[in-house]
Amino acid sequence: MVEQFDPLSESFAENPYPAYAALRALPEPFYYAPEDTWLLSKVADVEAAALDKTMLRTLDEMLDEDARKAQQRKMNWHDMPYHERFVQWNMLESEGDVHDRLRSLVSREFTPGMIRKQREAIQAFVDQILDSLMDRSEIDFIQDFAAHIPGHIIGHILGVPDEDCPQLGVWSEDVVRFFNVGCDDNDKRIAEQATKDFYFYLLELLELRENAPQDDVLTKLLQCKNTGEMTEDELIATSMLILMAGHGSTIDVLGSGMHCLLKYPDQHQKLRHDPELIKLAVQEMFRFESPLPYFHRFASEDTEVGGKKFQAGTRFGLLYGAANRDPARFAQPDTFDVTRKPNRHVAFGGGTHFCLGNHLARLDMEVIFTTLNQRFGDIQSVDEHPPYKRGLSVRGPESLRIHWKAA
Ligand code: HEM
Repeated sequence: MVEQFDPLSESFAENPYPAYAALRALPEPFYYAPEDTWLLSKVADVEAAALDKTMLRTLDEMLDEDARKAQQRKMNWHDMPYHERFVQWNMLESEGDVHDRLRSLVSREFTPGMIRKQREAIQAFVDQILDSLMDRSEIDFIQDFAAHIPGHIIGHILGVPDEDCPQLGVWSEDVVRFFNVGCDDNDKRIAEQATKDFYFYLLELLELRENAPQDDVLTKLLQCKNTGEMTEDELIATSMLILMAGHGSTIDVLGSGMHCLLKYPDQHQKLRHDPELIKLAVQEMFRFESPLPYFHRFASEDTEVGGKKFQAGTRFGLLYGAANRDPARFAQPDTFDVTRKPNRHVAFGGGTHFCLGNHLARLDMEVIFTTLNQRFGDIQSVDEHPPYKRGLSVRGPESLRIHWKAA
């Protein structure tokens, strides 16, 4: 089973969990040759690596310029100056003092209190989209509904005018399509163009904010630039990261969360009967189908992981999606249980790079599923097996056709 581990296959996309279980059953981490990466699948190993300060997202600071360029060429990540400047480098791809400085500036703005204040705006936008779909009995939950949400909400928080928010979603998808399975030079060209267009758009918006400050995250980040706490490139890369980190992941978990409720109608009924369960139900959606199931780390020192010794420079894959089904932590891990408590999942990572958007992601889900249950008495899946995206780094349905009836 493990010898045939093929995360790009259709069968893995359909159901990666038997493959994850086979990886967890191995005595040591598994070497995945195509990525020259050791995969960690047990929750104890994944969590330990995320918390380990010697495990870094990048070793760039240890490389000279030539070695760094050679690595970029190997991955075909060169010859795209805007993408290199604002996407391939950002807070998530930095470490040490630079990471900590940027993270503390953004955390200052991205507080749980600020996120709580977004509830009304999220509710209003969700109602508006649902109003526009009410006369249809069948929709694609992904394209017709979920895809509109995160660009609008994150755009609103950043300070992007409502009418420009749909464009944010397009840029966000184009910028990251260069990381998708089977991407080619055309994807590379599109990713570079989208980064460039997004950059010039942000420059214009920043100029407007310079002349007329608002109560939004862009204005706050601009103030950090003006006080010298952040460079302009850092400001742009951070704004792009906030959008990219939250766009696809939110769409994917909305889709898989909806699919879970449809696949396990007893759990959906439980939630309908007791809407107070929503926070636990959302936690379980993140655990059961973690939308960002894989992130890498490099060992910056010789180390021991999962009972095996490794040299400095080794690349590891932290399989958050596999860790979240580990029976060592979760009783009956393959059961979707909207009452699961405790639910210490690692869908938002851990340690230095722990997700800054986790409060927002949870709030989006809470508002959306509560509203759907209030407004629709009956929701059914049209496809028994909706297609899921291929690859190790993403988890979510490509499409999810549903029938629904207003309550
Ligand atoms: C919707 C589901 C989401 C999931 C499952 C998720 C998951 C994650 C994970 C696992 C990491 C850590 C990466 C690592 O270990 O290397 C991360 C980092 C991050 N996330 Fe999220 N995220 C989500 C939504 C969001 C949203 C909505 C935002 C912002 C609006 C956001 C902003 C960030 C940022 C800025 C980082 C980098 C933090 C750092 O490097 O210090 N995420 N996310």
